[in-house]
Amino acid sequence: MYQLIKPLLFSLDAEVAHDLTLNILSKIQSFIKRSSVNDKPELGCEIAGINFPNRIGLAAGMDKACLAPLAWQGLGFGFIEIGTVTNIAQTGNNKPRLFRIKEKNSLLNCLGFNNPGAAQLAEKLKILKENDKFRIPIGINIGKSRIVDARNSEEVIKDYLSALELLENYADYITINVSSPNTPGLREWESPKQLKTLLEPIVKKTTKPVFLKISPDMEEENLYQVLEISENLKIKGLIATNTTIERRNTPLWANSQMGGISGELLKARSLHLTKLIGKNKSKNLALISVGGISSLEDVKIRLDFGADLIQIYTALVYEGPFLISEINDKLSDEIKIVKSGL
Ligand SMILES: Cc1cc2nc3c(=O)[nH]c(=O)nc-3n(C[C@H](O)[C@H](O)[C@H](O)COP(=O)(O)O)c2cc1C
Repeated sequence: MYQLIKPLLFSLDAEVAHDLTLNILSKIQSFIKRSSVNDKPELGCEIAGINFPNRIGLAAGMDKACLAPLAWQGLGFGFIEIGTVTNIAQTGNNKPRLFRIKEKNSLLNCLGFNNPGAAQLAEKLKILKENDKFRIPIGINIGKSRIVDARNSEEVIKDYLSALELLENYADYITINVSSPNTPGLREWESPKQLKTLLEPIVKKTTKPVFLKISPDMEEENLYQVLEISENLKIKGLIATNTTIERRNTPLWANSQMGGISGELLKARSLHLTKLIGKNKSKNLALISVGGISSLEDVKIRLDFGADLIQIYTALVYEGPFLISEINDKLSDEIKIVKSGL
């Protein structure tokens, strides 16, 4: 079915197609029922003290403003991550800012955290919380407001804390995003010293599990320090990874286009980080693997290398929205076969 709609969507500008899809999904969300929550108890798990009906979640950025939560649930996602949201509403970078790299099943984006701001999102989430049809865990991904100078530590920390205060009541977990390549100076906050300064007050302030989303372009040496800081501060999960600024195997036009790449072109790097983190983290730190995952095989490899949860974005664009229930159905069948000892 998606293969019929895809040429039409791909004939449109990538962001127009995204907005149109989200708009339609938001209108028909109550009618989407590809799978029901908890219809496959064998896929359920408890991670960071949260019960997930299955391990596959919607990655941040697809539904920044929580427009179609029931649609994602109906399509079979075990959780969704909303955002990135910033304390102050912002429009993001100039358009065009989302591009398909079709020949590599990848996307390039430099959206720059276009979002309605924490206060408006909080209003929306308050209503969602009262809707007992919505039953999957929800993560809220927080980033830095663009107008706050990345070099002003005090202001940056205040900015994250203000958004946290407005949103934490509605979240099952909070993700701190310091890894987007599209906000000037943001990735500086991934450096171990600055990261500790930022995470300490956040962990102190909230009772919700805090996850940290990291970049695939981080030096290996830094990664070990980030792991140590996360474990010491009792961060509950690492999300690896955000999009990459690396340009390898990219078409020529993409080399001069700023932004982060996701999908197949990110896959090897994201898998490498998943392996490194899986091998070196303690049990107390959950690992959420994301980047170029598009099949049951990809999911199983990530789980084998220590991932507790999976997130997907770009493969939805290339494979279509039924991918999630297809993967979960096959995973469920395989678990049942193993359990029955066949
Ligand atoms: C168009 C687009 C927008 C994104 N926006 C965000 C965002 O706002 N916050 C964030 O943490 N990650 C964002 N991401 C990154 C994804 O959450 C994910 O980490 C990345 O795309 C790798 O997964 P994938 O290969 O399955 O897409 C975005 C990705 C894309 C393609």
